[in-house]
Amino acid sequence: MANKVKTIGVLTSGGDAPGMNAAIRAVVRTAIARGLKVKGIKKGYQGLLNEEIVDMAAKDVSDIIQRGGTILGTARCMEFKTPEGQKKGADICRKHGIDGIVVIGGDGSYRGAQALSRLGINTIGLPGTIDLDIACTEYTIGFDTAVNTAMQAIDKVKDTSSSHERCSIIEVMGRNAGYIALWCGIANGAEDILLPEKYDYNEQEIINSIIKNRKMGKTHHIIINAEGIGHSTSMARRIEAATGMETRATILGYMQRGGSPTAKDRYYASIMGAYAVDIMLKGKTNRVVGYQHGEFVDFDIESALNMEKGIDEYQFEVSRLLAI
Ligand code: ADP
Ligand code: F6P
Repeated sequence: MANKVKTIGVLTSGGDAPGMNAAIRAVVRTAIARGLKVKGIKKGYQGLLNEEIVDMAAKDVSDIIQRGGTILGTARCMEFKTPEGQKKGADICRKHGIDGIVVIGGDGSYRGAQALSRLGINTIGLPGTIDLDIACTEYTIGFDTAVNTAMQAIDKVKDTSSSHERCSIIEVMGRNAGYIALWCGIANGAEDILLPEKYDYNEQEIINSIIKNRKMGKTHHIIINAEGIGHSTSMARRIEAATGMETRATILGYMQRGGSPTAKDRYYASIMGAYAVDIMLKGKTNRVVGYQHGEFVDFDIESALNMEKGIDEYQFEVSRLLAI
């Protein structure tokens, strides 16, 4: 049960994601509407340890809902993984009168939130990552924008691949998860989709399918390769040598993490931000917010971190069926 909260801090941590600003705005404005004070903590846990803490008013989050990135900045902070760093962070919270924190980030960031909660600071996590790799939720802030950005870029690569009758290997982000790759694979009508969760590293099968498709008159061959597999450039060289089809690798990279969030990311992030404040006010702490079966829900951080998520078998099968 949370202690009574009067001042809420908000921080973004780990990789940034489009929609984080919408979540920050919702936390700030909901907290103010509920009679709380709000402090923005810059650059994630690193900014907390450096005491980069500013008061936030409703107007400080004006005109940000449409902006990519995070106005608070983000960071990865090794010191916060240590018990000393975590104690220092909790002491700094107390010094600034912060009795609750909303942490917007991924699994790693929740570990930090969990540590703060154990040290008496109320914490709620929001799923902020383009990777969609948080097991307790079907939605993460930023995925929708990232996958749409990647899809549009892949359409463009496909145009030029067709004109030149080339094979293209396009690498998308996702750390160890293949969700962006799967979604783009289906949405772009790719011939092959390589997911870390599924790929058996049988390159000969890809080579055979390229040769077969060429015989059938296909003018391009699009392979979506997930970052978790990587090695797109060397793969392109080997495929070109084996098939005789000119093959290029394109690594989409950080462009996938930027840009104005989609309506879905703005909307869901806004609801989640408000939800985080409201459950903290109801006395909850050490929770992470998710979206499941059409509803916003919350879980104990430890049980959320113990949940597992994989690629849906049926959706993967469909991706194969449609790639003929
Ligand atoms: P994400 O939150 O997107 O998974 P990271 O794994 O890089 O990204 O974690 C973000 C930050 O959260 C780290 O830089 C660190 O400050 C903090 N963090 C990660 N793991 C832990 C941990 N085990 N204990 C405390 N803090 C952690
Ligand atoms: O978690 C989001 C993400 O963009 C991953 O897809 C990628 O593996 C990672 O962050 C890259 O992190 P960094 O910004 O530290 O290079």
